[in-house]
Amino acid sequence: MSKLSKGQIIDNKYSVSFFLKKGSYAETYRVQNEAKETKLLKLFDFAKLHRTQFTESSEILEIEILKGGFNYPQDATFVDLFVGSGLLSHFVKQNNPSAKVVYNDYDNYFERLKHIPATNVLLAELRTILADWPKDKRITDATRDRVLSCVEQADSKGFVDYVTLSSSLLFSMCYVTDLKGLKAATLYNVVRMSDYNADGYLTGVERVSLDYKALYEQYKENKNVVFLVDPPYLSTEVGVYKSYWKLKDYLDVLQVLDNRPYVYFTSNKSNIIELCDWIGSKTSIANPFTGATTKTVNVTMNYSSTYTNMILYK
Ligand SMILES: C[S@@+](CC[C@H](N)C(=O)[O-])C[C@H]1O[C@@H](n2cnc3c(N)ncnc32)[C@H](O)[C@@H]1O
Repeated sequence: MSKLSKGQIIDNKYSVSFFLKKGSYAETYRVQNEAKETKLLKLFDFAKLHRTQFTESSEILEIEILKGGFNYPQDATFVDLFVGSGLLSHFVKQNNPSAKVVYNDYDNYFERLKHIPATNVLLAELRTILADWPKDKRITDATRDRVLSCVEQADSKGFVDYVTLSSSLLFSMCYVTDLKGLKAATLYNVVRMSDYNADGYLTGVERVSLDYKALYEQYKENKNVVFLVDPPYLSTEVGVYKSYWKLKDYLDVLQVLDNRPYVYFTSNKSNIIELCDWIGSKTSIANPFTGATTKTVNVTMNYSSTYTNMILYK
């Protein structure tokens, strides 16, 4: 059950449009301000934050990061080399409205955003089919057939956003990318109850769709460019994403950090910082992270599994 409800007014300024997601220490909502612009509202539960999630000045670290507390010039160009959903590009643009922000839509997320109205129609049909089916329970028998034939019909008419649909029909964190995958999967009634709405999302951000190396080549000579570097996690992203990211690919990325401002995202799971420390001290190759500022955020997956997200910038 989310803490805020639809239509609730926050701080006399923001009206809650809908609940987006719940994390281990925060809930996220889409809201509208008085000018009817769409904004993201993140509601932090202070009691659930770990002390490492605060900066030295007791601000919440994530907020500081989203505010863009990096002190780059106002007229800098931010080039987001690895984009995924574009959240980072969106936040950077919102917090630096006069900056040029280039968003590398390698996965063609734009296609999914464009089809939000069709996705909402399909979800509404699924809600009707599943109206009497218990929430969170496995969908079987004739109801499963009805769900699949509803999706099949939509598929025969055009684009179906299977990744988004997965979060309404599959077990948490499971994804399929086509009808065949959906037919082979175990379905659950986890259908989202509200419509998706991406009004204002990525507004003012320039979209390209390239291999990151080609995009880097285009901007590398420009001194006023800050590269945002959030590469795929090492050998983990199969399925939703196009490629399987190996150690060599991961190390290749470090070349874009050479002698220039950057914001680099990784986690302690990758061991990349340790590896670069070792290379810097034992070989003649320079450690690209020397002189960078590091911020960390601990992430709790469940009671036995935590890891640390790291942001290094200079
Ligand atoms: C960790 S995600 C980035 C998430 C992103 N920061 C966001 O806000 O959603 C890494 C992304 O890099 C994309 N990617 C994989 N290979 C790539 C390549 N050769 N060039 C550019 N992007 C690539 C993946 O498909 C994935 O979307």
